Amino acid sequence: MRLLRRFIVFAFLLFETFAFKEYLLKTCGESGFCNRNRHYANNIKNSKNIYYNLDPKSINYDSKLNLLTASVIKTIPGQEFEVFEDDEQTSFQTTKTDDKFIELPITINFLKDIGVRFTLNEKRDISLDNINIDYLNYNRYNETSNWAFDSKILSDNDINLSFTHTFDKKKNNLKIIPNNDKSIEIVIHLKDSFTIDVYYNSQLALTINDKLLLNIEHFRSEEENQLNLVPEESSFGSFEDVFQYSKDDTLPIGPESVALDVTIHGSNDVYGLPEHADSLRLKDTSDTEPYRLYNVDVFEYTLMSKMPMYGAIPLMISNHDNKFWSGIFWNNPADTWIDIKYGNKETSTHWISEAGIIDIVLMFSDMPNQITKKFTTLTGNPTLPLLSSIGYHQCRWNYNDEIDVLTVNAEMDRNQIPYDFIWLDLEYTDDRKYFTWKPNSFSNPKRLLKNLQKFGRQLVVLIDPHIKDGYEISDKLRENDVAVKDHNNNPYTGICWPGKSLWIDSFSKIGSSIWNSFFKKFLYKSVNNLFIWNDMNEPSVFDGPETSAPKDVLYDGGFEGRSVHNVYGMTLHESTYDSLKEFYSEYDKRPFVLTRAFYAGSQRTSAVWTGDNVATWDYLKVSIPMVLSNNIVGYPFIGADIAGFSGDPEEELVVRWYQAGVWYPFFRAHAHIDSKRREPYLFKEPIKSIIRDVIQLRYKLLPTLYTLFQESSIDGSPIMSPMIFNKPQYKEFVDVDDQFYMGNSGILVKPVTEKGIENIDMLFAPGVYYNFYTLESFVIKGDKIESKSIVAPFNKLPFFIEGGNILTLRENMRRSSILMHNDPYTLLVAPDKNGNANGSIYIDDGVTFAYEKGTYLKSSFKLIDGNKMVGEVDHLCEDIKSLGNVEIREIKIANTELKKKFKDYLVVKQDGEEYKVKVDVEDDKYVRIMNPRIKLNNKWEILF
Ligand code: NOJ
Repeated sequence: MRLLRRFIVFAFLLFETFAFKEYLLKTCGESGFCNRNRHYANNIKNSKNIYYNLDPKSINYDSKLNLLTASVIKTIPGQEFEVFEDDEQTSFQTTKTDDKFIELPITINFLKDIGVRFTLNEKRDISLDNINIDYLNYNRYNETSNWAFDSKILSDNDINLSFTHTFDKKKNNLKIIPNNDKSIEIVIHLKDSFTIDVYYNSQLALTINDKLLLNIEHFRSEEENQLNLVPEESSFGSFEDVFQYSKDDTLPIGPESVALDVTIHGSNDVYGLPEHADSLRLKDTSDTEPYRLYNVDVFEYTLMSKMPMYGAIPLMISNHDNKFWSGIFWNNPADTWIDIKYGNKETSTHWISEAGIIDIVLMFSDMPNQITKKFTTLTGNPTLPLLSSIGYHQCRWNYNDEIDVLTVNAEMDRNQIPYDFIWLDLEYTDDRKYFTWKPNSFSNPKRLLKNLQKFGRQLVVLIDPHIKDGYEISDKLRENDVAVKDHNNNPYTGICWPGKSLWIDSFSKIGSSIWNSFFKKFLYKSVNNLFIWNDMNEPSVFDGPETSAPKDVLYDGGFEGRSVHNVYGMTLHESTYDSLKEFYSEYDKRPFVLTRAFYAGSQRTSAVWTGDNVATWDYLKVSIPMVLSNNIVGYPFIGADIAGFSGDPEEELVVRWYQAGVWYPFFRAHAHIDSKRREPYLFKEPIKSIIRDVIQLRYKLLPTLYTLFQESSIDGSPIMSPMIFNKPQYKEFVDVDDQFYMGNSGILVKPVTEKGIENIDMLFAPGVYYNFYTLESFVIKGDKIESKSIVAPFNKLPFFIEGGNILTLRENMRRSSILMHNDPYTLLVAPDKNGNANGSIYIDDGVTFAYEKGTYLKSSFKLIDGNKMVGEVDHLCEDIKSLGNVEIREIKIANTELKKKFKDYLVVKQDGEEYKVKVDVEDDKYVRIMNPRIKLNNKWEILF
C-alpha cells in the first residue's frame, strides 16, 4: 500500500516536472455553471423573456450612509403539469404551480474619486429545514471587498458620496446623479426590463443587463430543482460535476452562479483581465472559449490562450473610441468566465461566476491611466519596494548549498555583474519541510546571511502554503485548527512537493497569527536580509482537480473554496508580508515577498512573476503583453523568468531575453532544476559582456526606475506602459503590445523577440527621439504616426528617449544597489523641438518606511526654451543624510546647438551662490556640463 502511494506521489511529481496538460482544465462546455450560463444566453437572445425586475416600492435611500437599497425580484413562472385522476391513469388534470419570487437585495453607492458600485445579493432562506450540513456556510460569500479593497477605503466614513435619485413615474425609471460629480449619471429602467444605463459626460457609456443575461441561480434543493428553472435554463452539472477530473465535487449548495452582461458603447478595444498568456487587447470569444479566471498551476502554459493561470484580476479597461475610457471591476473571486463579443461600435461582455454575489465597480475617465489610478485608489496602491529589489535577482532551482551560493556571489563580483538578490528554491529545506534548512547543505544560515549582507545583498527563500504532514509545523496547524478543511470538515490533505500535505488557512485570523509565529522562529533578528517567496499558492495540489484544491474544501467561516478560491493566494502572501514587517520592525525595513497567485489588491504587498514559462522565443514574446496587462491593472511589480524557466535557451535567446527583461519591473533570472546552469558569468565572450552590459544598464537607470516605482506607489501608474496608455489619442496604438514606454520617463522600447533579427520596425508619434547610447536624434514631423526601421544589433538593443524628458542616472558601477547609495547622479536631458524638457527624481533611503513620515526628497528640473535649466525642490526632509549622495555630478544635454550660446563656461546659481562650471561638447552629440556641484535638495538655475 505504502509502495503504491509512493508511486502515485512520484507520478504526480513527474507530472509537475513535465508539462502542463490542457485537458486537465475544464472547457466552458464541461463546466456546469459556465455551460448553463452560455446556454441561458443563447436562449434568452431569442425569447427575450424578462425574469428580473426592480420593485419601485422597495427603493430606499439612506442619507447617512449615502447608500441606495432596493429589491430586485426574480420571478419563476409557475409550471403546468398533469396529475392523473384515477389509478388506471386514464384521465388527468392539468395543474399549475404558483409563480415563485426570489428577493435579490441591490445596493448602489458612489465611491469618492473612484466610481459607482452596485452589489446584488440573494436573500436566502437558510432556516434549519433547508440545510443539512451544519459546518457549511450557506450564505453567499460577501466579504471579498474586505480583502480586495484598500484598508483606507474600508475605514473611510466619507468615501460614499451623496447623490440625488429621482423616480420618473411616466418613464418608469430612476435617475441617479452624484451631488459633487456631474460626470456620471445613472438611469435604471424599471419598465419591461431591469437594465441600467451609465452615462459619462452625457454619453451613454455602459449598459448593464442590456442583453438580459442577468442570472442569479437562487438557492434550492435538488428535489425542487426543476420547479426553480425558467424555460431558458438548463440544469447541466447543477448537483454533480461530470468533468472527469473533478467528479468528486460534492456541490453541497447546488447551482449558485451569478452572471451579468455589460454592453460597452462606442468601444471595440478592451484590455485587462490578467492573467492570460495572450495579447494585450482582449480577443472576441464568440467562437472560442471565454477568458477564464481561476487560479491554477499551469507549468509550461499554453500560449495565446484564454485558459486560466496563476492569478486573477477581474478588471476590464475599455477604450471608447479614443474619446474616453471605462473600467469594469467584477469583484468576485470564484471561478469566473468572461465572454467578449466585438460588435458594430459596441462590445458585449458576459461575466459568469460560479458563486458569491455580484459586486461591480464602474470607473470612467478621459485618460486610460486614470482608470488604473481609480482602481488602485479602490484596491490599494502598489507597494514601494526596497530599492534593492528593483535591481537584478539571480535565482535557480536550486543553489545547492552554502558554498554554491557564495560561489555564485563571488563569480558575479569577479565578472563585474551587479546583483542584489540571490534566491533559494525548494531544495534548501530539510526534506521539503518549510521553515527548516537542509542540515548539511545549509548548516549555518545566519553565517550565509551575514556573508551576503557584507556585499549589501539579500537572500530570498521559498515557503509554500502546503505543509508536509507529520512535523512540528503541520502539528501546529492541526492543534490550532487552522488547516484548510475537506468537505467533511476534517483537515484537507493532498499531494504537493513534500508528499502528503496540509494547507494553512490564511483566511483565518488565527491561521494568520500562527503563520506569523512560524516566521518568528525561522527568521534571524541579527540579520535582516532574508525574504520570502510564496509559490504554489493558487493553491497548487498535484492530485487535486484542475491542478488545485477541490472546490468543496472549506475555509474560515465555513465558506467553500468555490466561493473564495482566487483570493486564497493573496491571503497567504499578505500574511507573509505582515509577518516580515512585524519581524523586521526594529529595522523599520520594507518586506520583500514574491507571490505566484494573486487577486486584486495583491499589488499592495508583493511582487509577482509570470510563472513557469519555457526557454523559447514565443514565451519571450508573450511575456511583454503579459507584463503590460498586469501594469495597467495596477500591479506593476511583475516580470517573467529570464531566459525561460524550463529548457536550455540558445545563446541568442538568452541575450535577447535579458535585453527585454531589463525593462520588466521585476528583473529576475530563474531556471528549472533540469536545465543547465546559466548564470550570466558562465557564458563565453562576447555573450557574457553583452549580458553584463544589460544588467549594468539596469543599475545605471535605477534612479529613473525608482522614481517610476514611487509615482506608481501613489497613483498606480504603469511602469511598463502600453503605447495606447501613453498616447491614447492615436488609434494606431490600440493593439500594439510589443513596444512600450517606461512610465512617463520618455524611455521608449521595442525588444527583439525573434530569432536572427537585427532590424525592427518601430512606431513613433510626432516628436523628437534620441538613441540612448549615441544620443543621435531624429524628428517625426506632422501629426501622424510613422513606422521606422531601427537597427537592433545583437550586442546592443537600441532604445529611445522621447524629446521633452530628462532621465536621472547613476553611472558608477558597483556590485549592488546598496553600494551605490553615496554615488552622485547624472541628468540626461532630451529636449523637444522647442528646447524644452522636464524630469524629476524621488530619493529616499531605499530601505525603510521613513518615507511614510516624509523622509524623502522629490526634485524636479526643467530645460526651458533651450535658454536655461532650473531645478526645484518639491519635497524636502530634515534627515537628508539618510538619502545618501544627492549631488548632480554631470548634466548631459542632447543638443549641440546650445553650444553656440555659450563659451566654455556656464553660470550656476544655487543656494545664494553663483559660480562658473566647465562645459564641453562630446562627439558632436551632446553638451556636457561637468561637476556643476548642484545639490538636489537646493533650488538651482543654470543660465546659458
Ligand atoms: C514552481 C515555480 O513556478 C517555480 O518557479 C519553482 O522553481 C518550482 N515551483 C519549484 O519550487
